[in-house]
Amino acid sequence: MQAAPSCYRCHVQLHSIPFPSCSRLPVRVRWKSTVRMALTEDGPSIAVVGVTGAVGQEFLRVLADRNFPYRSIRMLASHRSAGRQLTFEGHDYEVEELRPESFEGVDIALFSAGGSISREMAPAAVERGAVVVDNSSAFRMDPSVPLVIPEVNPEAMAHICLKKNGKVGALIANPNCSTIICLMAATPLHRHAKVVRMVVSTYQAASGAGAAAMQELEQQTREVLEGKQPTCQIFKQQYAFNLFSHNAPILPNGYNEEEMKLVKETRKIWNNLDVKVTATCIRVPVMRAHAESINLQFEKSLDEDTARQILQEASGVVVIDDRASNFFPTPLEVSNKDDVAVGRIRQDLSQEGNHGC
Ligand SMILES: NC(=O)c1ccc[n+]([C@@H]2O[C@H](COP(=O)([O-])OP(=O)(O)OC[C@H]3O[C@@H](n4cnc5c(N)ncnc54)[C@H](OP(=O)(O)O)[C@@H]3O)[C@@H](O)[C@H]2O)c1
Repeated sequence: MQAAPSCYRCHVQLHSIPFPSCSRLPVRVRWKSTVRMALTEDGPSIAVVGVTGAVGQEFLRVLADRNFPYRSIRMLASHRSAGRQLTFEGHDYEVEELRPESFEGVDIALFSAGGSISREMAPAAVERGAVVVDNSSAFRMDPSVPLVIPEVNPEAMAHICLKKNGKVGALIANPNCSTIICLMAATPLHRHAKVVRMVVSTYQAASGAGAAAMQELEQQTREVLEGKQPTCQIFKQQYAFNLFSHNAPILPNGYNEEEMKLVKETRKIWNNLDVKVTATCIRVPVMRAHAESINLQFEKSLDEDTARQILQEASGVVVIDDRASNFFPTPLEVSNKDDVAVGRIRQDLSQEGNHGC
């Protein structure tokens, strides 16, 4: 089975934080209205931390695409960007330097400025009553912090809600992008037939390494085509017209950190310490949207047609599986879309009966 996501999946949490009461908004509500209703007096006040980065810009795009209601929005980044002007939904904003006081009066803080910034600043935001959705790895494995994919385990954050004038700060961790994509596709099948072992291979885009990595891929591509030596600042080796093992540090067990995130985060999200997971993560010279090959072994039998039917009905998943035309999900096809596209769905011939796909 092959899965390819939109460029980032961090944003899907946005529709799952109840406001102002605890009545839950349905997961993955689409805001279809053509009238811009986002800036509204009774919406939450929002802060975007790391707003000038690749993920920060995606946060803004998704807020706008979904007409997410808000009464104010604060654009936060480092001192390097302080004073920069940003236009969002027809209004001009000045980027402010991130400080603990930035979170006074903030209801929802979307963090994506790296783990060390989250460790330092997320507690300051929570203290001031904000619900923090953190896209870094800082709190993912903290047992007291829910690690949530709304389509997969929304119940883990069911106790968190926004109150209009109360101080009810809380933290929600957003899994690694590879884990989100993988579990969006694997969980509907897991619910049906229970996954006992999962083998994942990733084909990860430049976007996952941030805005500077995307720029480097573009620059290197030009340089190589012009016969020049490619500039290698973000990655240690040539990225254009090449691929390499993920740049995350290698651990003593031989896996890299990205691969172990898939192992550990899956177990936490599925609340299942027994599930066997192994991963190989590769960086490929694609601008946006990671792809993955996911091989599953099930406890119960699951035939190919039922698996395809389950995926077709799964929230946040689209099936692109056209064997006749040899057409399946591609990064270009899914870029700037929210759903995870799944294709190449087939029975695993190396497993007995219908116990693998
Ligand atoms: N890209 C992904 O798909 C992805 C996936 C999973 C997790 N993440 C997490 O998201 C983080 C950001 O990723 P990205 O791809 O958006 O990186 P990026 O494009 O390099 O952007 C980094 C952002 O963080 C801000 N920042 C850096 N240092 C700061 C500081 N001291 N105080 C306040 N803001 C600071 C930057 O502001 P300036 O412009 O002012 O420097 C910029 O807005 C990553 O480090 C990682 O933890 C990213």
